[in-house]
Amino acid sequence: MKIKTQSSTKTRSSLLCGFVLQGSKTVLGLPNFDARTRRAINQSLKDMEGKLGRLVVIPVHGNIHRVLLAGIGKREDITGDTIRSVSGKIALKARELKLKDFSIIAPPNSVNDKVSAVSQIVEGTKMSLYKFDQFKSEDTEVQPNLTIIVPRSNKVSNAVKTSEIVADGAIFAKSIANLPPNKCTPSTLATLAKTISKKNKMRCCVISRSELKKKGFGGIIAVGQGSKNEPKLIVLEHMLGPRNERPVVLVGKAVTFDTGGISLKPGDKMDEMKFDKCGGCTILGIMKAVSELRLAVNVIGIIPSVENMLGGESYRPGDIIELYSGKTAEILNTDAEGRLILSDALSYGEKKYAPKAIIDFATLTGACIISLGTNVAAIISDDERLAKQIKDSSKRTTEEVWELPLNQDYMDMIKSNVADMKNVGIGRAAGTITAAAFLKNAVKKTPWAHIDIAGVAWTQVATKKKSYNPKGATGFGVRLILDYLQNL
Ligand code: BES
Ligand code: ZN
Ligand code: ZN
Repeated sequence: MKIKTQSSTKTRSSLLCGFVLQGSKTVLGLPNFDARTRRAINQSLKDMEGKLGRLVVIPVHGNIHRVLLAGIGKREDITGDTIRSVSGKIALKARELKLKDFSIIAPPNSVNDKVSAVSQIVEGTKMSLYKFDQFKSEDTEVQPNLTIIVPRSNKVSNAVKTSEIVADGAIFAKSIANLPPNKCTPSTLATLAKTISKKNKMRCCVISRSELKKKGFGGIIAVGQGSKNEPKLIVLEHMLGPRNERPVVLVGKAVTFDTGGISLKPGDKMDEMKFDKCGGCTILGIMKAVSELRLAVNVIGIIPSVENMLGGESYRPGDIIELYSGKTAEILNTDAEGRLILSDALSYGEKKYAPKAIIDFATLTGACIISLGTNVAAIISDDERLAKQIKDSSKRTTEEVWELPLNQDYMDMIKSNVADMKNVGIGRAAGTITAAAFLKNAVKKTPWAHIDIAGVAWTQVATKKKSYNPKGATGFGVRLILDYLQNL
């Protein structure tokens, strides 16, 4: 999909789209048409009432073939997501009509800051047109090109460029996360990381199983030992910030398939556990975009990747393992594998890079879906400032997070009788927090934030439908962290 901007509404577009506020009698920014067309538009305005998400297509005479009216609801209800999601709907309509191109008139500043509206239009249209169809034999659909009608300025063209890269980062994350487990193993992820690093001059290093064993990554080795697809620790370095500045370390869980191991999961929906690599995919999407944007920051992406299988070689309930941190962990459930591989990656990241902050993403606990549902991620942090920065980014990007507490009482819940800690809490109580308590043991002194994306990483039954989140992985976290990094 190509995107360009143009100041004038004079266009030969096959579909000219304008936004309509609820209760308003006009289409924002729409040029004048002949009397007959005006009557048709006015009638449609009455019918659709500008209600949020309503679309009406009206055939017209002249250069433009059709006008589309897109309802954005009441002015006071407009959020940072309104233009993004309605633009996504418009793009889907253009594709359904099999159009080669369409134009969207950016709303005026009085409705939505123009520059951010342009970013939202780019993100919404691009992300909604992504479809996971690479394993379908039929021809793939053509993507219509977009013209945004907006007064041209440097700010606007930068917004377009930046948000195209941001949206591509999210799309990249989705497209890898959607891959089935037989087509995406830890080594596939390693190869993909190498590919993006070469294209954009990042350093990429992949630590293999034998090295992981030698260096004491006991968590990654234990979880990975049941699969013939060997574990990998993938590290990407983007160092375009000031030379002496400590980097931000980003860590993402990439379990390419989580059967639960010996503590086998029930069969129902087990196929969805291909999405247990979403945290890692989010990091890949962020690193790709960071490098394409050439952001003047130092960022390290670390992705521990394993397949959690069961077999004669698998780790077992009862095992005691030594983590990279030096601490020991009693395994009581092999399905609580994410915290083991993340713990290794977190302490490696802190030790090797002495970062100023560590943020991790993981589809870590089913409990997170119970507590917050499928539209909000959990954030747990030991640093108020870092948590606030991420929550501010969350408000701007509308990738929602909600903070959960972590205090000594929760840390006590993972104490083991036979090792330094156990990999489960007490029964099902506060499952999301006790998982975070386990991770906290890996981080000594760096401000740290953990984001549990179990509910939001892919579309589930209870997921609120959004045009730009088609069925499958959502790429949650890519826009969030890119906003955080851009505002450091
Ligand atoms: N990957 C799962 C968590 C998960 C489950 C995410 C369903 C999204 C949807 C994780 O490895 C896991 O199985 N966690 C266990 C932990 C428990 C055994 C302490 C869980 O949440 O049940
Ligand atoms: Zn599991
Ligand atoms: Zn898992």
